Amino acid sequence: MARYKIAVLPGDGVGKDVMDAAMIVLDAVGFKADYRHGDVGWEFWKKEGNPLPERTIKLLRETDACLFGAITSKPKDEAAKELAPELQGKGYVYYSPIVAIRQLFQLYANMRPCRAFPGNPLNYRDDIDVVVFRENTEGLYSGVEFHPVPGELRTLLEKLHPKMEAFKEISSEDMAISLRIITRRGAERIIRKAFKYAEESGRKKVTVVEKPNVLRETSGLMVRVAREIHEKEFPHIELEEANVDAMAMWLVKNPERYEVLVMSNLFGDIISDLAAQLVGGLGFASSANLGDTYGLFEPTHGSAPKYAGKYKVNPTAMILASKLMLEYLGEKEMAQRIENAVAEVIKEGKVRTYDMGGDSSTLDMARAIAERV
Ligand code: IPM
Ligand code: MG
Repeated sequence: MARYKIAVLPGDGVGKDVMDAAMIVLDAVGFKADYRHGDVGWEFWKKEGNPLPERTIKLLRETDACLFGAITSKPKDEAAKELAPELQGKGYVYYSPIVAIRQLFQLYANMRPCRAFPGNPLNYRDDIDVVVFRENTEGLYSGVEFHPVPGELRTLLEKLHPKMEAFKEISSEDMAISLRIITRRGAERIIRKAFKYAEESGRKKVTVVEKPNVLRETSGLMVRVAREIHEKEFPHIELEEANVDAMAMWLVKNPERYEVLVMSNLFGDIISDLAAQLVGGLGFASSANLGDTYGLFEPTHGSAPKYAGKYKVNPTAMILASKLMLEYLGEKEMAQRIENAVAEVIKEGKVRTYDMGGDSSTLDMARAIAERV
């Protein structure tokens, strides 16, 4: 009997293409699992008014980890137009299923390694090896948003905060509010995770990337917690503090100076795309969504609908995501073999997908990697 139960959620668009590729590599490396396919994404939004059906949540609960492909997301109004006619006007509101899973399963750490594989023509530089730790459950993704702003809330805010004075001429209809909720629990667990990773992987520095000079309370809390955890638990690892805007610049200027970056949710979303581009773009960017009892592994890229089913996109991100899953499950040796095989194929340069200037397909790339594991 297979040791692991793995949920497989290919999702939308090229999610299926890259999932097929990852399976070729997982089979080749000898990973045995009971794979259970689940429904998620646009198709189920349109048909059922729910992109994350209850049966899928149940499936996740019954498995050890999840491999996740890609998701199509559209703004609220556009999404509503695509609902099946019989579901229109019934109050269904689209939400991002991946964000929902992260919150529901408390996958609070989104780890996004950005390593330049030597020989990748898309590398911005060859000496980059940074890992972004993005808080994954709160911050600006808390989902507490208002439009129009309810009168009660407005009155309360005006009573509590003098800065509201600046908006007094604006109608509540012309105002929208999204709450950036940062909690001590959220800050502690993501920062601890980043330090732990630094320690275990032999890295010497963690950089907390926030904006405490302006976001005094929320970013302020992140930085305070980082200092505390550093001092109490990881004094042997350097803690560096940087502002997020400056980090966007420094990562382009001196990417080799950074090892582990840790930040709140939206900052991590943005900075991880930037970091991904330094090492070849989203085709190479994988991520691990980690909680204390579950892990979900996905490429950072979207569903690229125009390439769906064409087996054209680069599957490396998804293959590296499955490698992160193996690491999470404790299958370190298999994980290492996949990473080495990816490195070899890239270095050799014979098999290259279109993003790398070649014409190999998604599956060519997968097979080349599979041959070397
Ligand atoms: C990511 C993506 C998601 C996010 C989208 C698809 C909701 O951009 O994983 O980085 O914003 O977290
Ligand atoms: Mg993103």
